Amino acid sequence: MSLPEVVIHGKTFVVKIDEQTIANRVKELAAEISKEFDGKKPLLIGVLNGSAIFTVDLFREIPYDCEVTFIRVASYHSGMSSSGEVKQVMGLKESIKDRHVIIIEDIVDSGETAKHLLQDLQQHEPATLKLATALFKPAALKYDVRPDYVGFVVEPDFLVGYGLDYDGLGRNLKDIYVLKP
Ligand code: IMP
Ligand code: MG
Repeated sequence: MSLPEVVIHGKTFVVKIDEQTIANRVKELAAEISKEFDGKKPLLIGVLNGSAIFTVDLFREIPYDCEVTFIRVASYHSGMSSSGEVKQVMGLKESIKDRHVIIIEDIVDSGETAKHLLQDLQQHEPATLKLATALFKPAALKYDVRPDYVGFVVEPDFLVGYGLDYDGLGRNLKDIYVLKP
């Protein structure tokens, strides 16, 4: 049952994509991925915290041998980098060399996170490196990133639910909500 509106940290959000629509789309994406990687034992790499729910939902729809793991992207400032911002991939324990890897993101907004992830993981020489994202905001894109599998293309509005948070809250909402204008 969807709540038509929710209030998080004093701000009101309204339903944008309901639970059933999300579930149907996840099944379609999983079917597409399953077909492409049949017999290749793909490795899904979810990016914490946002994509935990989407990653597991996708993973559970893959009907054959498939592995899942999670990483985190830490951002910190460093005098060594020209932009002053360094993004580091943390927590990758398994070797991805010669594996068929699909990075799973909650949302591609500016594309900065995805760009760093793709560059970093590519250095480990996977056989395939693809990017899946539940949500894609092409109008907000600032980096040259093109997700291979997209749940929903959305406008550049602030969203919560299905893993996405507003200041730590809202990740557990089953529907995706948008800030009420
Ligand atoms: P990027 O700008 O593509 O690097 O996105 C960075 C991160 O910003 C995403 O992984 C999300 O955690 C967060 N983010 C971007 N847009 C939204 C949104 O609409 N709601 C909640 N988090 C968002
Ligand atoms: Mg995120």
